Amino acid sequence: MPYAPAELEKPVTIHKLRQMKADGEKFTSVALYDAPTAGAAQRAGVETVLIGDSLGMAMLGYDSTVPVTMEEMIHHIGAVARGNRKSLIMGDLPFMTYATPEQALTNAARIMQAGAHMVKIEGGTWLAETVKMLSERGIPVCAHLGLTPQSVHKFGGYRIQGRSDEQAGQILDDAAVLDEAGADLLVLECVPSRLAKRITDTVSMPTIGIGAGSDTDGQVLVITDLLGLTEKPPKFSKNFLRETGDIHGALRQYAEEVKNGQFPTAEHSFN
Ligand code: KIV
Repeated sequence: MPYAPAELEKPVTIHKLRQMKADGEKFTSVALYDAPTAGAAQRAGVETVLIGDSLGMAMLGYDSTVPVTMEEMIHHIGAVARGNRKSLIMGDLPFMTYATPEQALTNAARIMQAGAHMVKIEGGTWLAETVKMLSERGIPVCAHLGLTPQSVHKFGGYRIQGRSDEQAGQILDDAAVLDEAGADLLVLECVPSRLAKRITDTVSMPTIGIGAGSDTDGQVLVITDLLGLTEKPPKFSKNFLRETGDIHGALRQYAEEVKNGQFPTAEHSFN
């Protein structure tokens, strides 16, 4: 049956996303940073919103996510939480705010108190203890593997990750370890579609892809990409405003195309 986007009726929980994964029903996420777009996402039926540290590039004019501060994140998380009462709200812990489990706990508490329902952190097996510590203390965690933008200088640029067998094996192992440690969601960014599918089929937590093909449980796009505001849009994004002509229509169209399996296509993915 074709999907009819509708305003979210009830607040979205992690249980709802797990049920959607079990039922093979796709969900959507948008990285956004303010109250009006957060409200528009709720009305378009977008299940999760992310106040990503992409804030730095999308809104604040920085060259990367590295300069983003806790204060900037908290400011924007508050705005999104006031504008959207139904989507599950995820907030990024910015660069070097979770280098140790204790530091992660202190900063994750601030992100939650600002209005997030879950924190997102970038990295693999080294974060297992942190994920366990946060989970045990009641803080849900979204892990993030593949192209993790806070490591851009270590990667030597924004490069697809997991193309070699060795890299793919490492990402697969990291995903299994983080799943076991208690992570609730997993963002997979810029990895080959086949690898994303394999991880999605293996882990118990729902996966959210961006540049990771169509087989992840959910999809996420950055609002400025989705609305055609990015000067050089990434291959994995799509300008939904061009087709629809208004922001509400663009968000509804995005949700509908994800649900119907029309987005992303091979054109937005990596092999
Ligand atoms: O910061 C961000 O917006 C993100 C998404 C692109 C997944 O991490």
